[in-house]
Amino acid sequence: MTKITIVGAGNVGSQAAFYVALKNLGEIVLIDVVDGLAKGKALDILEAMPLAGSDIQITGGSDYALTKNSNIVVVTAGVARKPGMSRDDLTEINAKIIKSIIPEVVKYSPNCILIIVTNPLDAMVQLAYKLSGFPKQRVVGMAGVLDTTRFRTFLSQELKASVNDIEAMVLGGHGDLMVPLVSHCKVKGKQITQLLPKEKIDAIVQRVRDGGAEIVGLLKTGSAFFAPGLAIVEMIESILKDQKKILPCAALLEGEYGVNRVFVGVPVRLGKAGVEEVVELELTSEEKIAFKKSVEHVKELIKKI
Ligand code: NAI
Ligand code: 2OP
Repeated sequence: MTKITIVGAGNVGSQAAFYVALKNLGEIVLIDVVDGLAKGKALDILEAMPLAGSDIQITGGSDYALTKNSNIVVVTAGVARKPGMSRDDLTEINAKIIKSIIPEVVKYSPNCILIIVTNPLDAMVQLAYKLSGFPKQRVVGMAGVLDTTRFRTFLSQELKASVNDIEAMVLGGHGDLMVPLVSHCKVKGKQITQLLPKEKIDAIVQRVRDGGAEIVGLLKTGSAFFAPGLAIVEMIESILKDQKKILPCAALLEGEYGVNRVFVGVPVRLGKAGVEEVVELELTSEEKIAFKKSVEHVKELIKKI
């Protein structure tokens, strides 16, 4: 039986668990430090399943023994930002949380694939990779799938086109310097540069970069969780069903894109072995410069942990 553990039963973790349950992807274990939280949310999700017609098992608690032999472990534990904060402001506090979690995960599931979600994303994946001792294929971060779904949403609204017809990709670190790739953005094969004036495209690119902050500013007490939850499930599904989808994820680069030993968002082929390939796209010179700037920022952040 496939087993999926989600560490952190807060907004993102419980939303991801709910989608995993609806899609019947496997047995689910929710873990949280707060006593009763994971168990309560797991029970609530379980009680929704007769209505969804999904026969799944889900349990929750604080004891990592529950997670034994998981195929996938998603880490969403940590603090989310408040209005006025950047993701980088969470580095110190969330690094401590990652340091407490990864050894427990590795002890009970030495063969799992780790999907890190905690912010600041790229630095936390790098830390988790180091602490786990796992091969690079089995450690990956979720952010690009979220940033890309935001890009597609804003484009579909502007163009009054179906989201299904929009092809887009966001690379780089999950921060203010992320790189929405205009050169790879198409609507049913047509470049967006042929469909929208430059000012409109620039405004959408900026809105994508500010997408997380826009939600934080509205919610005031937390950050986004519906879209992040489903973005996590897109990755889980591609791995478990060996779909080999090419998705933008934080992966360890060893020479690809001219970058060495840094986790950052790039297109990867996600299958049953985890990150099976880093896909190298042709970038414009402007995009190359923006990507390099974003990588340099991630490198600076890594030095702080
Ligand atoms: P939340 O505050 O709703 O939930 C976090 C949960 O982690 C809480 O239930 C808390 O008790 C738990 N937790 C804290 N320390 C723990 C530990 N040592 N062990 C187990 N559980 C622990 O926050 P939310 O909205 O779920 O966000 C979680 C994290 O994910 C934040 O760092 C946020 O910035 C990040 N995030 C990242 C995204 C991405 O695209 N990479 C998207 C959305 C959120
Ligand atoms: C976001 O972009 C919080 O990083 C998260 O919504």
